Amino acid sequence: MVRIHPSILSADFVNLERDLARIATADGVHLDVMDAHFVPNLTFGLPMVQRIAEVTDLPIDVHLMIDDPDTWALQYAIGGVDSVTFHAEATRDAVALARELRARGTRAAIAVKPGTEVDLVAEHLREFDMVLIMTVEPGFGGQSFMPGMMPKLETLRARARDLGIDVALQVDGGITDDTLPIAAAAGADVFVAGSAVYGHADPAERIAALRAAGGG
Ligand code: DX5
Ligand code: ZN
Repeated sequence: MVRIHPSILSADFVNLERDLARIATADGVHLDVMDAHFVPNLTFGLPMVQRIAEVTDLPIDVHLMIDDPDTWALQYAIGGVDSVTFHAEATRDAVALARELRARGTRAAIAVKPGTEVDLVAEHLREFDMVLIMTVEPGFGGQSFMPGMMPKLETLRARARDLGIDVALQVDGGITDDTLPIAAAAGADVFVAGSAVYGHADPAERIAALRAAGGG
């Protein structure tokens, strides 16, 4: 099953309620929290996530590109937030943090940058509801998809099958009608798309096209 999560990074922040309404047919909305330390860009934090949760019915997928998620991630486990994703590179104790998030009723997800291997994630795969394989260097929208990340998806999909568990595999960065099927074939099932949705006049049409590209 193909799930499409538009990223509001490419939306109009001044008309965000309108732009959220335009993606009502999506499966979730992806919120990129950046702190200008873990990544060289700054976006928004908890007050914005709280307000978005009040105005959208879509499940919210928070992608934390911040230092020290061990300290900050739990505050994002609020009503309307379906999953909180923290970066493996920034975390002191990924398993402990995932357990705390789950204890607060939120799905726990771990993200890896392009240069990070997935061995440790694979070893602890039962601890996570979702793994985010970055297909660009995190920080900015509109970059090109890195096909070299596909073996990570294949490794994790095979590991999940061996363990008999159902873990979501998300890709983020450079997802288009052309690259989505490549990631889907490698085992991804949740697709973040920023510019491929909001860079066009009709976001709903783009969501349908991306879904169709993945086989529905
Ligand atoms: C990048 C963000 C992405 C970004 C993707 O660091 O994590 O979610 O919005 O943008 P596109 O789809 O344009 O590559
Ligand atoms: Zn993201």
